[in-house]
Amino acid sequence: MAPVLIEGKKVSSEIYDELRDRISRLKSQGVVPGLAVVLVGEDPASQIYVRNKARKCEELGMRSFTHLMPAEASEAEVLAKVAELNADPAVHGFLVQLPLPGHIDEDKVIMAIDPDKDVDGFHPVNVGGMLIGKPGFLPATPAGVQQMLIRSGVETRGKNVVIVGRSNIVGKPMAALLVQKGEGADATVTVAHSRTRDLAAVTRGADILIVAIGRPNFITGDMVKEGAVVIDVGTNRVADDTHPKGSRLVGDVDFGSVSGKASAISPVPGGVGPMTICMLMANTVAAAENSLKGV
Ligand code: GUN
Repeated sequence: MAPVLIEGKKVSSEIYDELRDRISRLKSQGVVPGLAVVLVGEDPASQIYVRNKARKCEELGMRSFTHLMPAEASEAEVLAKVAELNADPAVHGFLVQLPLPGHIDEDKVIMAIDPDKDVDGFHPVNVGGMLIGKPGFLPATPAGVQQMLIRSGVETRGKNVVIVGRSNIVGKPMAALLVQKGEGADATVTVAHSRTRDLAAVTRGADILIVAIGRPNFITGDMVKEGAVVIDVGTNRVADDTHPKGSRLVGDVDFGSVSGKASAISPVPGGVGPMTICMLMANTVAAAENSLKGV
């Protein structure tokens, strides 16, 4: 039987409807949620992300501020921009688009962001809060995957979840979220990575397989248990002469062979992708709500 498709497009549109209500409530109290993005340099992929974030803000009736800085901007100049945004009451949340040019210390920049405005959830205060289950901003992609599971009715409690990939922005926080007590969590979590022995044996033990390893079509049908739920976080651009752009997006999961095994699967594109901006917007709305509570 063909697997159920778990589509971030659908899940995010449900969340956007909820956000629109919360934004109207905020506006009736005189607050318009504001998100600022700092982009240093002219990386084309980053420019697209930044444009998409601004467009989504406008669509939702939020304020958006884009701060473009030249690739040669000094670390001190970027830190001064962060300090300016920390102090700006119209900016409820902001992020500095990564990667930064090599001469700028990313950790130093992230550490300078006020944790109450860190809607990326990258500041160590928010990372630590997530690990101990305290309220704070959750990183957008893993939080988005968790929402996809919850809102698609995928039970996680007591299930074997295998996460392939141990990055700071997906694999590790994903494990922290799913091992937590509570809804959309309570799972038995394994984190596999490039040094894992007999990876296929590990992934075949997964009731829920989450893949964020950054290698096109890496997970194949023989690595997946019959009936597993498979979430593909990968977005890899591969050359394809038959495509008008000369390339296309593929995930880390070989959709063709894995579809024959999975009971449910997220496609690429249209799967996890749309959830990332959605959760960033949700964090920004929460930051604006917190500003009213004086948190
Ligand atoms: N670059 C690619 N994705 C992201 C993200 O979610 N946040 C930041 N700050 N930079 C990114």
